[in-house]
Amino acid sequence: MSLPRLHVNVDHVATLRQARREAFPDPVEWALAAERAGAHGITCHLRKDRRHVQDADIHRLRGAVTTLLNLEVSLDPEMLGLAERSGAEAFCVVPENRLEITTEGGLDVIRETPRLKDAVPRLAEAGGAVSIFIDPDPAQLDAAASLGAPFVELHTGAYASASGPVREAELARLADATAHARSIGLRVNAGHGLDFENVGSVAAIEGVEELNIGFAMVARAVFDGVETTVKEMLRRIEEAVR
Ligand code: PXP
Repeated sequence: MSLPRLHVNVDHVATLRQARREAFPDPVEWALAAERAGAHGITCHLRKDRRHVQDADIHRLRGAVTTLLNLEVSLDPEMLGLAERSGAEAFCVVPENRLEITTEGGLDVIRETPRLKDAVPRLAEAGGAVSIFIDPDPAQLDAAASLGAPFVELHTGAYASASGPVREAELARLADATAHARSIGLRVNAGHGLDFENVGSVAAIEGVEELNIGFAMVARAVFDGVETTVKEMLRRIEEAVR
């Protein structure tokens, strides 16, 4: 069984900075500390409302990150244009709603097929591996497979926020969706709402290649520091897979 890569999302370091419109804490400095601790990639989401990372952060991250820069991008024309010029090595196409606290659900690939037919080749042409953030739903996966994006990122939020038998059922949905995605030629990443306690079961799903984790790590780092936090998350992933 192979070990999923850990991509550390730095958005909420910027959320803290933006709370005071200061120059610190710096998401770039955080990203570099995460890399030193073993993170395999750095993820961020430039939102239309610029609530966390800013345009200049993307430029600075691009100059500083040496692992891999993964940019989450909505289908908004302005954001797609910025993504194309960002130099990121990977893109994850996400839904975006100004009123949401965080990304609430996967992209409705069936409804968005016309816009995705334009966006996926444009992002691939810009030089990044493209993934689409979707719920673990077979019909959505089938629609994603027809678009030519090599990856999907499965939304783990429903699993992460459930408990007891519902959590088990959500975990089974993620495992079934991973197997289905791979059977139709899609590669699988996963993320949203993962933390130190719930990450292991997702890391252990055969075929999940990458985990995108942000909030829980930034929250833990307030107490433990970045490098201890990243090393602990890597340890939990490894422990679940070995
Ligand atoms: N993956 C995607 C596509 C996301 O939009 C987010 C949230 O920015 C994450 C993963 C990470 O979620 P969390 O911050 O809850 O770990």
